[in-house]
Formats: sequence, C-alpha cells, structure tokens
Amino acid sequence: MSPVSSIVKVSQDVAVLVWDVGLTLVNLVSPKRKVGKVTPAGHPGADGKWPEFQPPKEGDSRCSCPALNAMANHGILPRDGRNISFKQLNHTIRATYNFAPTFCFFVPNFAANMLKKKYSKDTFDLADLDLHNGIEHDASLVRRDVYFEPNQATIHVPYVEELLASATGKDVDGNALLTIPDLSKISSKRRAEARAENPEFSLDKFHKVFGSSNSSTMLTIFGGRVPDLETVLLEERLPDGWESRIREPKGLTILTFNKTVLKVEKGIDESKFAVAAAASAPEAARSSVDKPAPVEA
Ligand SMILES: *[C@@H]1O[C@H](CO)[C@@H](O)[C@H](O)[C@H]1NC(C)=O
Ligand SMILES: *[C@@H]1O[C@H](CO)[C@@H](O)[C@H](O)[C@H]1NC(C)=O
Ligand SMILES: *[C@@H]1O[C@H](CO)[C@@H](O)[C@H](O)[C@H]1NC(C)=O
Ligand SMILES: *[C@@H]1O[C@H](CO)[C@@H](O)[C@H](O)[C@H]1NC(C)=O
Repeated sequence: MSPVSSIVKVSQDVAVLVWDVGLTLVNLVSPKRKVGKVTPAGHPGADGKWPEFQPPKEGDSRCSCPALNAMANHGILPRDGRNISFKQLNHTIRATYNFAPTFCFFVPNFAANMLKKKYSKDTFDLADLDLHNGIEHDASLVRRDVYFEPNQATIHVPYVEELLASATGKDVDGNALLTIPDLSKISSKRRAEARAENPEFSLDKFHKVFGSSNSSTMLTIFGGRVPDLETVLLEERLPDGWESRIREPKGLTILTFNKTVLKVEKGIDESKFAVAAAASAPEAARSSVDKPAPVEA
C-alpha cells in the first residue's frame, strides 16, 4: 500500500467510526420503528412480503454467508449471485437487515479491498467472497472447514442442527432462543474440534472476532430466534412475515454490534472441549477420506 492510499484508508476508517458514534447517539434518542414496519416501505420485504424464494440453480454463485445467499435466493441480489456491485450490497443490506449505513459501507468496502477491487465501480460474484482467510475462515458454525469441503456454499446440516439444539433461552411464546453464552459455548466446541481434526487449521485474532460477529448477527438481527434461524440457516430463505429485530431507525451500528461481539468472543474457552475434540479427531479424519483432496496452494 502506498503512503497516500494508507492515509486515505486510515482517514476513511476514522470517518466511518465518527459517523457510527453519531448514528449510535441518534438511535439512543429516537423512537424505535414499529413492529411490522421495520423493513422500509418500497423495499423487498416491506410488510413482511419477501419476493419469491427460488433455491439456486446449477451454475449460480453462492458463498459461505447464509444471509447473502438468502438475499440472492429471494432475488434481492441477482439470483445467479453474479456481477454484484459493492454499492448495491450497501443499499440492499441496509434495507433487508437494518444494519446501520456505517456497517453497510464498512463491510462491502472491506470485501472490495480484500479482493483488490474498487468499492465505487467494481462487481463480484458471491463465491469470490470465499477467499480463504479473507472473509471465509475455519471453525464455522454452519460449514465444514474448506480443507474438508472446498465448496463453502455447502450447508453442513449437522453443525446447524447442533447449533440450534444448543439454545437455552425461551421467548414469551415459548420459542427457543439462542443466548450469548450459547454462542460462546458452541463456538468453543467448534474451534476445538476444527483445531484437532483439520491438519491445515488456522484462526487468527481477526478471524476469531469475525466469527463472533457472525454469531452476533444471529443474536441481534435475528434476535436469537431459533424457528427463524432454522429457515435462514437450513434453507437460506427469509421466513414469510420476517423482519429485522433491530428497530432503531439508524439500524445496528458497528459500536452497538461490537458490544455483543466482544461478549461472545470473551466467553469462548476452547480448553473445555480440547480433550474430547482430540479423542474424536481420528474418527472425523476417517469420515473425510471420501472427500476430494484439498487443492495445494
Ligand atoms: C455487470 O453489470 C453491469 C451493470 O451493473 C453491466 O454493465 C455489465 O454488462 C454486467 N456484466 C456482465 C458480465 O453481466
Ligand atoms: C451506502 O448506503 C448508505 C445508505 O444506505 C448511503 O448513505 C451511503 O452514501 C452509501 N455509500 C456509498 C459509498 O455508496
Ligand atoms: C463467519 O462467516 C464467514 C463467511 O461466511 C465464514 O467463513 C466463517 O466460517 C463464519 N464463522 C463462524 C464462526 O461461523
Ligand atoms: C470493534 O471491535 C474491533 C475488535 O475488537 C475493533 O477493532 C474495532 O475498532 C471496534 N469498533 C468499534 C466501532 O468499536
């Protein structure tokens, strides 16, 4: 990176953070959106009416992120998952999930930099996001590690089922709810297992926090609600009538989101699962024999 572009990058990050603090304050003093009116009028999903769900066809591009795949499956993003502009991602994520505009700029901009593309004019296919240790990383709660499953769009049903079954909370209607400690615990287990069974396992500090951000999306945008998450994670579909559980008018800011992320991450303790993971690792390695060999870098 040239000195000029690194100055541009740092000042851009500072500007986004200042903007984010501002939005967080506006949210604190503004009335929340009404239940049933969170998705803005005129956008797909307004009044709970999501455009028709169609599962991906042969040749369509999908990725490791269930929330983005769901948008493509409903045609909010191009159904083939291809030629998506970073700017388009900004606006559609904002309207669909009610993340704050800061978040909706920061994440696609991060993805553009990672792919060495320009946020303002370039496009990408969903599968491009699965560059290993860019955004995609090991110890996912919903995917096998890339060492075992090169196609990171493949939903690993046993992991999703284990995740949803781990919910200990309940809402007023008696539906199961995932809690912060639930996410810390299942993340601890997945990390310990992946470390034991995957000979190419890697997970740096940045990707740990990234992983806990995924968990926090389930807890905030989806309110931890297991019946909704079941549809989103197993079918990559938005349930009829669904809306974001974030009702603040400026959406979920990075600052507010971070509080949940840091709690999930702080509660993770792999050591509790290390012994059991090591004991079951040979079995896991055997069951991977029928998978294609990993591609050498
Ligand atoms: C990608 O989309 C742009 C408009 O956003 C269009 O001009 C271009 O032709 C498309 N490219 C392909 C390969 O479809
Ligand atoms: C991203 O979207 C937000 C609104 O959702 C808008 O305010 C902002 O200007 C957009 N930024 C860019 C660079 O596209
Ligand atoms: C978080 O999302 C990325 C991108 O979809 C994925 O590769 C990663 O494994 C996920 N992490 C967790 C802990 O689920
Ligand atoms: C959120 O947390 C990450 C990781 O700890 C940190 O790098 C980032 O600066 C934080 N952002 C905000 C807005 O607090």
